Amino acid sequence: MRVLMGPGPSDVHPRVLGALARPTIGHLDPAFTGLMDEIKDLLRYGFGTANALTIPVSAPGSAGMETCFANLVEPGDKVIVCQNGVFGMRMQENIERAGGVAVAVQDEWGEAVDADKLSDALKANPDAKIVAFVHAETSTGVGSDAAALCALARQHDCLTIVDAVTSLGGTPLKVDEWGIDAIYSGTQKCLSAPPGLSPVSFSDRAVKKLQDRKHRVQSWFLDLSLVMGYWDGSDGRSYHHTAPVNALYGLHESLLMLREEGLQAAWDRHDKMHRALVAGLEAMGLSMLVDPACRLPQLNAVCIPDGVDEAAVRQRLLADYSLEIGAGLGALAGKVWRIGLMGNSATAANILLCLDALEGTLAAMQAPIITGKATAAAQQVLG
Ligand SMILES: Cc1ncc(COP(=O)(O)O)c(C=O)c1O
Repeated sequence: MRVLMGPGPSDVHPRVLGALARPTIGHLDPAFTGLMDEIKDLLRYGFGTANALTIPVSAPGSAGMETCFANLVEPGDKVIVCQNGVFGMRMQENIERAGGVAVAVQDEWGEAVDADKLSDALKANPDAKIVAFVHAETSTGVGSDAAALCALARQHDCLTIVDAVTSLGGTPLKVDEWGIDAIYSGTQKCLSAPPGLSPVSFSDRAVKKLQDRKHRVQSWFLDLSLVMGYWDGSDGRSYHHTAPVNALYGLHESLLMLREEGLQAAWDRHDKMHRALVAGLEAMGLSMLVDPACRLPQLNAVCIPDGVDEAAVRQRLLADYSLEIGAGLGALAGKVWRIGLMGNSATAANILLCLDALEGTLAAMQAPIITGKATAAAQQVLG
C-alpha cells in the first residue's frame, strides 16, 4: 500500500473506503436523498457558510472551477484574475472560454497574491464584475489572504470566485465571514476522500447574478439552474444526471470525520504536522521555497539541493518506501518537491517515514545533506 504525501490525492481512511463499498442504491431513492441533504449540511460546516446553494459537483476540482466560471461569467464580463501559480492561469482559460475578458494581476510563483496590486487593478478597471483568485496554490505551497482580497472586491462591488481545492479542511476557510461569493474545492486533498467530486457553494449575490443572466450557461451539464433540480429537494427532486452514489457515500463519511474532529482541531493538526516536517527538513539542511508568513501547512515546497536528480529521488522513495511525494509543476518543475500533508496523510507516523526515507535516499546518492538530526528535530515539535 502506498503512503500518499504528494499534492493529492491523500491517504483515504479505512472508514471512507468502507463507505465507498456499501451497496449502490438509486440516486433518487428516498434513503439516498436524505444522505444528500446531510452532505449539503456537512459541506456548509466545512466551508463556514449558510449558503443554500452548497453541493458537490459530480466531477473533480476542475469541474468545480468550471462550474463557477461558466455560471457567473457572461460574454463580455470583465474579470480580474490574480495569478501566482498554475491554477490562477487555468482560471484565465475558464474566463475566456466563458466569453469573459480577463485582466491578469501577476505575482511571483512562491509569493502570495498582493492585495495592493489587486487594489490598483480594481481602480484601473471600474467596470470589472468579478475578482478570482486561488486561496491555496497547490503548485507553489502558498496561501493568500482571502479575507483581505474579498473585502477589496466588495468595496468595488465585485463578486469573488475562490479556489479552495487545497484549503478546505486544512487551513482556516470562512466563506460567510470573509464574504466569498463562489467557491469550489476537491475531495482528494484535505478531505481525504477519493478524487472525483467538487464541492461548490454560491452566495445569494452569486445566485442573483446567475438568475439575472441574459445568455444561457454554455455548459448543459454544469448549468446550476438545472443541476439544482436534483440537489434542491424543496420542489421534489428530478433526474438531471445519474449521481455517483458510492463516491457520495465516501464524501459523506469523510465530512462526518471532519465534523467529529472539528474544523479548528483539523486546522491545528495540519499546522503542527507542518512545523514538525519543516523542522526535520531544515535539520537535514534542506530549505523551503515559501516565506513562513504565507506557507501552506498542507503543501510543502522543498528546494531541491544542487546536483540532485529530483526524479530519481522520487522514484526511489516510491520503489523502496512505497512513499509518494510530488514533483514541481509548471515554472517550478525540477526546482522543488511538493510534500503534501493533507487530511488523513497529515500524521506523525507519515512525517517520520518521509524524513527517514528522504534522508536515506539522499545520503545514498551522496547529496549535500546533514544526516542524523532530522527525526529528533521533528519529534521535538511532535512532543
Ligand atoms: C488549487 C487547485 N485547483 C484546481 C485543481 C484541479 O482539481 P482536479 O485535479 O481535482 O480537477 C487542483 C488540483 O490539484 C488544485 O490543486
